[in-house]
Amino acid sequence: MCGIVAYIGDKKALPRLIEGLRRLEYRGYDSAGVALVDPNSDRLWVHKTVGRVEELAKGVSEGPETTIGIAHTRWATHGGVTQPNAHPHLDTENRIAVIHNGIIENFNELRASLEASGVVFRSETDTEVLPHLIRKYYQGDPLQAVIRAIQDIRGTYGIAVLFRDHPDRVIAARNGSPLAIGLGDGETVLGSDPQAIVAHTRRVVYLDDREIAVLTRDGAQVQRLDGVRVDQQVEIIDGDYTLAEKTGFAHFMLKEIMEQPESIRRCLGGRVMTDDGNAKLGGLNMSPRELVGVKRVVNIGCGTSFHAGMVGAMAIESLARVPARAEIASEFRYNNPIVDPEGVFLAISQSGETADTLGAIEEVQLKGGQTLGVVNVVGSTIARTCGQGVYVHSGPEIAVASTKAFTSQIAALMTFTLMLARTRNLSLEEGKAMARALADIPNKVAEYLQDPGPIMAAVEAVKGARYVLFLGRGFSYPVALEGALKLKEVAYVACEGYPAGEMKHGPIAMMEKGTPVIFLIPADSQREKAISNMKEVQARGAKLIVVHNRGDQEIASMADISIPVPEVPYYLTPFLTVLPLQLLAYQVGLALGRDIDKPRTLAKSVTVE
Ligand code: AGP
Repeated sequence: MCGIVAYIGDKKALPRLIEGLRRLEYRGYDSAGVALVDPNSDRLWVHKTVGRVEELAKGVSEGPETTIGIAHTRWATHGGVTQPNAHPHLDTENRIAVIHNGIIENFNELRASLEASGVVFRSETDTEVLPHLIRKYYQGDPLQAVIRAIQDIRGTYGIAVLFRDHPDRVIAARNGSPLAIGLGDGETVLGSDPQAIVAHTRRVVYLDDREIAVLTRDGAQVQRLDGVRVDQQVEIIDGDYTLAEKTGFAHFMLKEIMEQPESIRRCLGGRVMTDDGNAKLGGLNMSPRELVGVKRVVNIGCGTSFHAGMVGAMAIESLARVPARAEIASEFRYNNPIVDPEGVFLAISQSGETADTLGAIEEVQLKGGQTLGVVNVVGSTIARTCGQGVYVHSGPEIAVASTKAFTSQIAALMTFTLMLARTRNLSLEEGKAMARALADIPNKVAEYLQDPGPIMAAVEAVKGARYVLFLGRGFSYPVALEGALKLKEVAYVACEGYPAGEMKHGPIAMMEKGTPVIFLIPADSQREKAISNMKEVQARGAKLIVVHNRGDQEIASMADISIPVPEVPYYLTPFLTVLPLQLLAYQVGLALGRDIDKPRTLAKSVTVE
């Protein structure tokens, strides 16, 4: 979603701003813009464009030589994808420019009151109220004007403000939308994510909510909105921020699918101890005594991360015998949840910036609950807010459709399950068996990816379908949901995931001759029941695409299209059964001419509610 970069230093701002935006492209956006202080003009120089940063870069070659500016990539929320709606937004005199991530909830009333006082708006955005409000309150002190304007707004924001009259500073403020300040040598860089900063420096100060900063060439002064000075905690950005390359793959999505043997191995590496039949998670400061004290586990996430949370909750409950459930963050946070102080709440997020997940864990913390992050992006807001947890180490995930993060999240959750289970009733021998099976998962995933089976036959069945159903029971149910999410997100094919046993209570009415039904039936305790469900849809003429264990001839012979996967213990089957579904979504998307890495549905990082 939207990206923010600001630069003030001793070098040319424009190329650095464009480079910063390029590094934020992976978040998803639809338009981009830049504002610079033009030393030869009494107005700010602004250029905006619909489309790619590349287009913006072409259009700014005539930009002024200056060492201060702000730039933005927008993901439309309020107002269509148009050039006037792109950021930066300006006051009526073009002397104050604002870029903004987040949503201003009371913008309608603010706009009405500003219009009543004669302000003419140039866009449909919520953001545009900000430069006009700042102008209204500006009496020579830019910091005070921004503070005063912020006091009028309700909602979330990460903003950067540029003043023509103050070419020696950029003002930045945050409430709910992350901002990090990079402290370089003679330059200071603001980014909505560290990716925009790391090319300059790894020394960073993260703004907290209700904090505001004045950035100069020599650093930054941070204070709270009430004026109290904040002691800056300078942190060193850790982690891999090299710009990901497709390395010969046609799309990042395919590359990331194929990377899963290594990404899972990275997640498990040094954590799963096959000889001890146990695991250790460095980011989790919990002794066995504390683990024994865990009375319940709640996994919170959105989308794919929620599905991983479902798998993890099933594993925790069935193997560690600790009550566990998964919750959709956007529901959980607003349903006045009961927070058990003896429970742990795992915030699962690839980006670590998802607004709903962040909101949910803040609610848990407010109610005295213990939160742990299961996060990919090091130093992200959710990771920092949780304070402790597990990095899943899947490496940068660029494609909007999450694939390798899913399997790494499951790997991290299985590792946690093993630790929890060993403090309870899982014996040493059982622990060893689980640790060995887990450690072997990267090999099994590699084995499948080398020979993925008749995916293209499944593509033919799915690509023209009016409706596709994904079914699974037990551990295969969240995988069915994930398969449907991928197919919708990447290929825009109408489909849904369902628990196979529930199918006869409604969705069976959708079955017509030839309706593709994708059935996940690895060999587990539910296999026989799933076969009955398979027969029910087959009797109605459905075309059965079945993902099953290699060697299960009975199921293979019943399927129209049979996709075998290597055999693993039942609780690890999601690592394998999800792979053909990821490939299917990718190939159907390709066959239907979709923009695979940048589908129309979602941004990579969903930083608004
Ligand atoms: C999955 O393919 C999606 N892009 C989406 O559902 C995603 O998983 C969700 O928005 C949560 O993101 P997060 O893991 O970064 O919190």
